[in-house]
Amino acid sequence: MTQYQTGFLNHFATEAVPGALPVGQNSPQRPSYGLYAEQFSTTAFTMPRVQNRRSWLYRMRPMAAHAPFEPIDLAPRLASAPFTDAPVSPDRLRWDPLPMPDGSLDWVEGLVTYGGNGDVGTGAGIAVHVYAANRSMDRRVFQSSDGELLIAPQIGTLHIKTEMGRMDVPPGHIALIPRGLRFSVELDGPSRGYVCENYGAHFQLPDLGPIGSNGLANPRDFETPVAWYEDVEAEVEFIQKFQGRLWRTMLDHSPFDVVAWHGNTAPCRYDLARFNTIGTISFDHPDPSIFTVLTSPSEIAGTANCDFVIFPPRWMVAEDTFRPPWFHRNIMSEFMGLIHGVYDAKEGGGFTPGGASLHNQMNAHGPDAVSTRAAMEAELAPLKIDGTLAFMFESRWVIRPTAHAMAIPEKQDDYDNCWDGFVKAQLPL
Ligand SMILES: [Fe+2]
Repeated sequence: MTQYQTGFLNHFATEAVPGALPVGQNSPQRPSYGLYAEQFSTTAFTMPRVQNRRSWLYRMRPMAAHAPFEPIDLAPRLASAPFTDAPVSPDRLRWDPLPMPDGSLDWVEGLVTYGGNGDVGTGAGIAVHVYAANRSMDRRVFQSSDGELLIAPQIGTLHIKTEMGRMDVPPGHIALIPRGLRFSVELDGPSRGYVCENYGAHFQLPDLGPIGSNGLANPRDFETPVAWYEDVEAEVEFIQKFQGRLWRTMLDHSPFDVVAWHGNTAPCRYDLARFNTIGTISFDHPDPSIFTVLTSPSEIAGTANCDFVIFPPRWMVAEDTFRPPWFHRNIMSEFMGLIHGVYDAKEGGGFTPGGASLHNQMNAHGPDAVSTRAAMEAELAPLKIDGTLAFMFESRWVIRPTAHAMAIPEKQDDYDNCWDGFVKAQLPL
């Protein structure tokens, strides 16, 4: 049974064994039970206090004790920015769902990179991955030193063991795994989902401005695991993603030996059904930024390294309004995925759960011709859009698709056709 503490960015304190956590200090000469103290910093020591994130872990053995890493080719479809292996075209792109693997793949082996931006070496930008896997990680743990991971399962619950506790993450939830945290993923069966590997600043809750002190994703709905450990003396493979490639070393014990921890950098999960969705109660509708769950800021205020935005069930009540997401061209670049249901701008089909679309900087997109016609002819009664959950990773930089993503058979070659057949406006003679 997994247990959680609630709140976002709290200073948590948790111990799996009473007395394991030092009181009043971080690094006593002799921690209880002979544990070793280790600071885990995911921001610079000197970051302003409001953004500073670090935790203290109390573990059975220091993680510093291991042999050198060797490079391995465990996940050949996993890639990192800069993505320069294919020219980036201005075309709108869309993919059918990634099929489940023919063979046996665990969560790391099943990662497929669709694209991204920035540079893993300079700590800016994102990579977007989709995973399709069917085997639990067995005596294998993983960490990405390259970025924080936002994981959105689409099929199959992920049972994630981390150094700081365990989380169950079903479809409709997201998990956030801090950069550098070791974890392992167990599956119930064939599983698929989306990952944003965030090279930049931590995801944080967006400011609410005139919305006030409540709304959108409320902090108390984020759930962070309590301390948990296992005392396993056995060979464990430790895979690290570092500067765009995978490295392996072997451990002689489980690294999940953290008995107690405290601090404000920690994994968490969030049930997207708890998002307090806000929209118009008069006319038109706000920009989709009103649906931002989490944002990773860049150096330019209001211009995100990555916004994580959802399109959840919601009431549509606007009067005299074209209700689907409007046609637009956007300086920000948009990668979309669909967890379940039908997205209200693509009722003509082609955007299916597990699929993806990419609309890059300044390229025109919007509802397909079927959705547009229906929206212009609709009786505007209150309408509940239900049974759907789409999302977007939106970035200030162009999301460059990988050569692999451009070559896979799931890439649709007829996406542009969904915008065929608009009726021309009739001007007065
Ligand atoms: Fe858009």
